[in-house]
Amino acid sequence: MTTKEDNDLLTRVEGDAPMGRMLRQHYWVPAVLSSRLETGGAPVRVKLFGKRYVAYRTHDGRVGFLNEACPHRGVSLALARNEDNALRCIFHGWKMCVTGEVLEVPNEAANPEGFRKTVNVHHYPTVEGAGLVWTWLGEGETPPPPNFEFMGLPANQAYACGLELNSNWLQGVEATIDSSHIAVLHQSHLSHSQMDMAATRVSNAVRYKFDDTPYGYRAAALREGPDGECLARVTEFIMPYYGLIPPINTGDDQDRTVIIAVPIDDEHLIQWYIYYNTKRPTDSMKRTQRANTWPMAGGIVNDADQHWGQDRRLMANGNHTGFTDIVIEDFVTQASMGPIVDRSEEYLCSADQAIVRLRRHLMQSVKKFIAGEVPISAQSGSRDYSGITATGGRMKSVEDDWRVLPR
Ligand code: FES
Ligand SMILES: [Fe+2]
Repeated sequence: MTTKEDNDLLTRVEGDAPMGRMLRQHYWVPAVLSSRLETGGAPVRVKLFGKRYVAYRTHDGRVGFLNEACPHRGVSLALARNEDNALRCIFHGWKMCVTGEVLEVPNEAANPEGFRKTVNVHHYPTVEGAGLVWTWLGEGETPPPPNFEFMGLPANQAYACGLELNSNWLQGVEATIDSSHIAVLHQSHLSHSQMDMAATRVSNAVRYKFDDTPYGYRAAALREGPDGECLARVTEFIMPYYGLIPPINTGDDQDRTVIIAVPIDDEHLIQWYIYYNTKRPTDSMKRTQRANTWPMAGGIVNDADQHWGQDRRLMANGNHTGFTDIVIEDFVTQASMGPIVDRSEEYLCSADQAIVRLRRHLMQSVKKFIAGEVPISAQSGSRDYSGITATGGRMKSVEDDWRVLPR
């Protein structure tokens, strides 16, 4: 059972909250869409872990990421001029470059050259991959960014979209790794063959098997079909907020999905979806469809008074949820729990083992962090993520070893 104290420890990420400090210190964070940073264009405001930052792209294409407040007297650098590969604060004209160096302090008459070198600009390393700018907000030496299989792909093989939601980040991770809702919540959007693969309604009772890994765990959702054969879907949880979702149809040229639940503050997250394909360009139909539905989703899911836009007429006509898109169904259920769900009030069942394991994993990690140790599954310089991919397939029997399914 999760106590109220444990719930706080697991969910709170702002300020000195241990979970937030651990996440910032030990893991890279996807922060903003690369496409939002125009070369030489306006800085973009980004909020992570309750703190405000700006990201911008210089004229020569590099990305800067720094605290939003100007180091002089705190004017927002979102207002700054993007000049000569640096940001110039509009208030007194201090000019700061991507590497954190202050280049000019025009209002310091006495010793501008000496003075500018004493100013500490809080700036953060960045890397771009899968259509996103990633940053590391910790202190000390920067660990190398994670080499996920989607990081180095060309633009037509990976694209990202994200949506801000009124819910704590952990609800996002939990939704991602919860395989047992698929055949119920999403039933109106899956074809019969997909249902068969994802989960038939008759055998919706899932058997989970797990394999702990140095980076998190693998969760195999096993469903026995009427013929005795077993359908396996293996989701990968990668610390601290990644869920790699197996494709609904098997085959190694299928588009893959990774969902990343990144804390904006205690009561909001940005849920990033990266669709990628390591073999060929991603499905462009899907890309267009997402581009159309996601902006709408922003207006729907956060409005509780209107039942998040649920359409009862659709339901009367056979749609299970009254929502027209799988992703929206996920967002609505997650946000409807409230900003921070009280986990001391839940009734978990055996299908919730992935959830229990996730919380245990995070709890053990944060306790180690509090004790001054490196959390389990922390990202270390030597960690290789490149072979990690979600998989699925058929097995002769539910007793077969799902771990040998090809990845
Ligand atoms: S507040 Fe930015 S230069 Fe003064
Ligand atoms: Fe879902």
